[in-house]
Amino acid sequence: MLGNFEYCNPTKLYFGKNALGGLEGELKKYRKNVLLVYGGGSIKKNGIYDSVIKILKESGKEIREVSGVMPNPTYAKLLEGAKAAKEFGADLILAVGGGSVCDYSKGVSVAAYCEDDVWEKYYERLEEPECKIIPVGCVLTMVGTGSEMNGGSVITNTDKKMKVGQVFGENVFPKFAILNPEYTFTLPKYQMTAGFFDIMSHIMEQYFSGSDDNTSDYIMEGLMRSLIHSSRIAVKNPLDYEARSNIMWTATWALNTLVAMGKDTDWEVHMIGQAISAHTDATHGMTLAAVSLPYYKMIMQYGLYKFKRFAVNVWGVSEEGKTDEETALEGLNAMESWMKELGLVLNAGELGLKPEMLEAVADSTLIMQGGYKVLTRAGVIKVLEDSLKYE
Ligand code: NZQ
Ligand code: ZN
Repeated sequence: MLGNFEYCNPTKLYFGKNALGGLEGELKKYRKNVLLVYGGGSIKKNGIYDSVIKILKESGKEIREVSGVMPNPTYAKLLEGAKAAKEFGADLILAVGGGSVCDYSKGVSVAAYCEDDVWEKYYERLEEPECKIIPVGCVLTMVGTGSEMNGGSVITNTDKKMKVGQVFGENVFPKFAILNPEYTFTLPKYQMTAGFFDIMSHIMEQYFSGSDDNTSDYIMEGLMRSLIHSSRIAVKNPLDYEARSNIMWTATWALNTLVAMGKDTDWEVHMIGQAISAHTDATHGMTLAAVSLPYYKMIMQYGLYKFKRFAVNVWGVSEEGKTDEETALEGLNAMESWMKELGLVLNAGELGLKPEMLEAVADSTLIMQGGYKVLTRAGVIKVLEDSLKYE
């Protein structure tokens, strides 16, 4: 049964090869000062920076840049951006990059005029902003997080060794997002496939929760099947537009809040993955890949019906002559083969996790309540140990 909910997603999308054509019209809605936010320089190498600057200049905008936003953006960097945005009097923050740049820009948008302690208010107490919010627009260059159409802002506090995902309300969602699948063609394979698994994980963490059938389960099965199909093509030919465009669209729907409406969600894999990143600075999607199989094998028996359904409807496993447990396990084994095909990291040791760090990583892991089995701290350590044993 679906619970009660209100639903609104205010982000306007421009999708396709000509998506950047939508920027000019969007810029007209804002006053002069545009804070251009980007990462470590990939947009300068692939020409996206030049295309965006040209449109900003032709639109008569005053531009101030905040560059060097790192993957797993830090709180210190967030404060730097907030100061720059306020001093400049930014009318619009234009994020050009992946989830990190987009998440960071949302953080800056609510931090610039915040009079409280930004970390404590937004990333510890998880409160909504009460101050002026600077609008954010996004030109997406990396696919996976769904940040282009949601209120997520994941920030790492390096002093506290915490990586926290705040999920802001509609007023912080990007006002618009430009999604050109061709912009993702220059992604290194490691980032591309990490993004693919991030998408899969977002869907699984919403699918594996709750006991009832609902529309979202059917939507999610379709999204997963599309992702598996297209990712197999993209990994062989990264320039396949059809595959990359399908994946980009799947990523947006995987985490633009729709499929979570009215149902429980899990998110424990993300909590463990984020804790690994807080201690190692590892790539987000790879941390999820490294803990998913140990986690799902651990909880499978508590949600056997859903794991069996996953095996049959997503991986095409036949139930004939098998126990529910055998069918369910075959589904996870099929997922493991797919993960190997993509070349994902399955042993967290490759991400810098060491046995002596497990206690500290467990301390940084939030325990969620919505999964089929609520983990204990010992359970988190067991998941990490199993990942380190993976051969
Ligand atoms: O910094 P540059 O030079 O741009 O390089 C980036 C970065 O090194 C590179 N890149 C991006 N687009 C490229 C490109 N390289 C070549 N060509 C391109 N077109 O890719 C690297 C990774 O970028 P990043 O933005 O960090 O990746 P992603 O999009 O996976 O974002 C990860 C962040 O998003 C958070 C994660 O925790 C992590 O901090 N998440 C945000 C969520 C949300 N808003 O809802 C949910 C997710 O679960 C996730 O937690
Ligand atoms: Zn994610």
